[in-house]
Amino acid sequence: MSDCRGQRWSLKDMTALVTGGTKGIGYAVVKELAAFGAIVHTCSRNEAELNQRVQEWKSMGLKVSGSVCDLKVRAQREKLMETVSSLFDGKLNILVNNAGISIPKEATEFTMEDFSTIMTTNFESAYHLSQLAHPLLKASGNGNIIFISSVAGVIALPMCSIYASSKGAMNELTKNLACEWAKDKIRVNSVAPWIIRTPLVDNLEKDSTFLEQANRLILRTPIPRPREPNEVSSVVAFLCFPAASYVTGQFRGSDLHFAIGENINGRTLLPRDENYSIQYGIRGTWTFLAVLVVLVLCLSLLFVPESLVPRNETDRQLALLQFKSMIIDDPLGA
Ligand SMILES: NC(=O)c1ccc[n+]([C@@H]2O[C@H](COP(=O)([O-])OP(=O)(O)OC[C@H]3O[C@@H](n4cnc5c(N)ncnc54)[C@H](OP(=O)(O)O)[C@@H]3O)[C@@H](O)[C@H]2O)c1
Repeated sequence: MSDCRGQRWSLKDMTALVTGGTKGIGYAVVKELAAFGAIVHTCSRNEAELNQRVQEWKSMGLKVSGSVCDLKVRAQREKLMETVSSLFDGKLNILVNNAGISIPKEATEFTMEDFSTIMTTNFESAYHLSQLAHPLLKASGNGNIIFISSVAGVIALPMCSIYASSKGAMNELTKNLACEWAKDKIRVNSVAPWIIRTPLVDNLEKDSTFLEQANRLILRTPIPRPREPNEVSSVVAFLCFPAASYVTGQFRGSDLHFAIGENINGRTLLPRDENYSIQYGIRGTWTFLAVLVVLVLCLSLLFVPESLVPRNETDRQLALLQFKSMIIDDPLGA
C-alpha cells in the first residue's frame, strides 16, 4: 500500500523543463519538482545568476541543470528544446511554462513595443515551447504541461490590460491543448496565482497606484495576505503527480481563491465586501417590490365585480360599445 501511495505521489526519475527558474515562482517550482525526484532543466537570461542557482541546487543533492535562453527569441527556444531533448533522450514528462513579465501602465500609455514584449514573453513563447515539446511529451507516455497563468487572466485588475490578455489567452490555450493532446497522454493545466512575493511583484509595487490597489484587493481574499512561491509550487507538483492522472484542462484549480468572489462591473467582490451587500441589498429590495406588485394585481382580480369583467362574447361586445360611446362618441361626457 505504501509503495503504491509512493508512486502516485512521486516524480521520481521524471524529466522536467521549467522556464525562468532562477527567481520567484520558477525557483520554487524547480526545487519542489526536484525534491520529489524529478530531473529538472531550467533556463533564464542571466548566465551568472543561472550558474549560481544550479550550483545551489546541486549542493542540496537535487538533479538540476540550466542553460541560457531568451524566450523572446524563437531560435533560442528551438535551441533550448534541442538541449532538453539530448539531455533527456527525447522524452519529457513535464513542461512548466513559467517565465513571464509585466509592465504596469494604463491602456492608453502602452506602446507597440510593450505589447510585443509582454505578449511574446508570456504567451507566444509558451505556445511555441508547447509545440516544440509535444513530440518529447508524447514519447514519455505521461506528459504534463503546466502554464503559470494569473488571476489577471480571469478578472480585471488595475494597469494590467496586456498582461491580463496574455494570461487570458493562456487559459484558453490550456483548455484547447488539453482536448487536442489527451489522446497523446499529455495533460495540460494552468495555475493562476494571485499576488506572490517575488522580484516581479517587488518591481510592480514601485508604482504607488498599483501598490495601493493591490493591498486593497489582497484584503478581499479569503486568506488576506500575499502568498509565498512555495504555495504555488506545491500546486504545480500536485498537477504533475500520477495521482492527478484525471486532472486536465483546468485553469482555476485550488490556486484561484481571489476569483471566488463575483465579478461585478470589473470589480471582484467577496461576501464581506461592503459593496456586495449594498448591490445585492438594492437588487433584493427591487425584486421583492416587483413580486409584491404582481401578487397584489393577481389578488385584486379575484375581487373585481363580475359586471366589470365580460364573461362571454355578447358581454364583451356590449362593453366595447359602452366604452366607444363613452370615450369616442362623447369624450366630454356631454
Ligand atoms: N508574482 C506574482 O504575484 C505572480 C502572480 C500571478 C502570476 N505570476 C506569473 O508567474 C510567473 C513567474 O513570475 P515571478 O513573479 O516568479 O517572476 P520573477 O520573479 O520576475 O521571475 C521571472 C523568471 O523568468 C525569467 N525570465 C523573464 N523573462 C525571460 C525571458 N525573456 N527569457 C527567459 N527567461 C526569462 C527570469 O530570469 P531572467 O530575468 O534572468 O531572464 C526569472 O527567472 C510569471 O509568468 C508571472 O506572470 C506571478
